[in-house]
Amino acid sequence: MDLELKDKTAIVTGSARGLGAATARRLAQEGARVVVTDIDGEGAEATAKELAGLGHRAIAVRADITSGADVDGLVAAAEEFGGVDILVNNAGFPRDTLLTKMTDTDWDSVIEVILKGSFLVTRAVMPQLIERRWGRVVNISSRSYLGNPGQANYSSAKAGILGFTRALAAEQGRYGITVNAVAPGFMETEAVRSLDHYEKIREKAVAAQPLRRTGQPEDIADAVAFLASERASFITGETLHVTGGRFG
Ligand SMILES: NC(=O)c1ccc[n+]([C@@H]2O[C@H](COP(=O)([O-])OP(=O)(O)OC[C@H]3O[C@@H](n4cnc5c(N)ncnc54)[C@H](O)[C@@H]3O)[C@@H](O)[C@H]2O)c1
Repeated sequence: MDLELKDKTAIVTGSARGLGAATARRLAQEGARVVVTDIDGEGAEATAKELAGLGHRAIAVRADITSGADVDGLVAAAEEFGGVDILVNNAGFPRDTLLTKMTDTDWDSVIEVILKGSFLVTRAVMPQLIERRWGRVVNISSRSYLGNPGQANYSSAKAGILGFTRALAAEQGRYGITVNAVAPGFMETEAVRSLDHYEKIREKAVAAQPLRRTGQPEDIADAVAFLASERASFITGETLHVTGGRFG
């Protein structure tokens, strides 16, 4: 299946490592030019260097997506590739704790990066997508949008991402722009492996997933690449669960 991603330009936020890096790799393999961006500038450089070493076109931009000035710099840097066609809003993190112990910072930092960050980057690239009457926005939500104990902040942000996705799909469809979300389940990334009690969490997650394995970053990368492609041109406002069959 030809995804027709050759010579499209994609920004993938939070792509220094984990799901974002795997997505950047996948899009590059399909011939897209990739702007690898992360608050971790060195990590972004390393990912972009790896891709360039494989003969792909990639640049690294250090940007904190919660900073308007950084986001402006990111969009300006993408001009090197002639502007943006595809945006993957992937950067995000949990700060898990029970509500009664949740600090203002636990709440604000998660909402700020996931919701405000996705808003700022999307708002900055949308005029270009509208102008070329073609665009793809893929937002990384989480199965946690369904509501997990200890994740009032993260579940709220990831549920908010689905509202953001549907609102933009309704708003921008007339310009040939699709906006979809991917909701990953338990995926094995560095971030997840560094959790306390990782092995126990992993065992429980595998048992709860009908496909009885953990998700790999490439599972998300494949889903994102499909939604970013020409093959998904009649799909918008959708949430693709990549959870090994787990919904509850
Ligand atoms: N790994 C999982 O099991 C899982 C499950 C569901 C959803 N997700 C979501 O997928 C996304 C990627 O997760 P991951 O496991 O690869 O995490 P990760 O921590 O490996 O990657 C996230 C990246 O985002 C970057 N980042 C954080 N704040 C930023 C900011 N303000 N500006 C720019 N970059 C910033 C980090 O530096 C990091 O490189 C996140 O949104 C996460 O919530 C992950």
